[in-house]
This record gives sequence, structure tokens and C-alpha cells, in this order.
Amino acid sequence: MEKTFLMVKPDGVQRGLIGEIVKRFEQKGFQLVAGKLMVISREQAEYHYAEHKGKPFYEDLVSFITSGPVFAMVWQGDQVIALSRLMMGKTNTLDAQPGTIRGDFAVHTGMNLIHGSDSPESAEREINNFFKPEEIAGYDKVL
Ligand code: CMP
Repeated sequence: MEKTFLMVKPDGVQRGLIGEIVKRFEQKGFQLVAGKLMVISREQAEYHYAEHKGKPFYEDLVSFITSGPVFAMVWQGDQVIALSRLMMGKTNTLDAQPGTIRGDFAVHTGMNLIHGSDSPESAEREINNFFKPEEIAGYDKVL
């Protein structure tokens, strides 16, 4: 079963959108297998955003993601990586279509509410950055 790492960013937590965001993925038919509210360390943020190091927005990005609690999650389901990114909407909020999370709730590209892994390799790396294997629940025995 494919897994992805999704994270409600500090703006989403502060605006009280955790429930709305979780609801959308539950209603789509995906399963939440791990979730925790946490403040990310600078080290974790730098590892998470390593591919953006050197870009003009990198420092703001690391400051923002460490500025307050995030809600880190692991979800599973068929094609959950690609489908969850469709549900999130494009990074640039001007391109995020209505009906998507960013299209419905975000105005700024830097504060775009949610992060989602963009490939199986990123998902594995990001899940391991935020969760220990024993924190990920298995549904296999009940379904
Ligand atoms: P995300 O896709 O989660 O990961 C990279 C983040 O960088 C992106 O969301 C945005 O929140 C942030 N960001 C800020 N400014 C820019 C920009 N100009 N282009 C792309 N991403 C940006």
C-alpha cells in the first residue's frame, strides 16, 4: 500500500484547519496511519527542505516551518502520493484551483497550508524524518 507524508504547516494549525484538511483526505478514502502535533527542529527542517537550499526563499521557508506547531501525518492508499497532491492544489496559489485545499483556503505561496511528498523516494525520506517505524499504525489485521 502506498504511503505519503503530509504536513499541515504552522499557518494551517493556527487557522484551525487541521480538522478540515484531515476530513478531506478521510472522505477521499485514504487512511491516516500516523499523526502528531509537533514543533520542528531547525535540523529536521533543513533536512526536509534540503532540495531548496540556496534558493531565495529558503531562509524564510525554514523560519516559517519552525515558527510554530505543525501537524505531521502519514497517509496510505492507492496512488495517495499523486492524488493527495491534486487535492492540495499547486504550490503557487495563483495556480491552485478552487476545490483544492490551497485553492479554497490559501492566498500566499509562502504560507500555503500543507506539504505533501512528491514521489515515493521523497515520501520514504520524509516519513523517516518525522516518524519512527513504531509510530506508524497497521490496519492490515482489521481490514
Ligand atoms: P512546499 O511545496 O511544501 O515546499 C517548498 C515550499 O517553499 C513551498 O511549499 C512554499 O511554501 C515555499 N515557497 C516559498 N516561496 C516560494 C517560491 N517562490 N517558489 C516555490 N516555493 C516557495
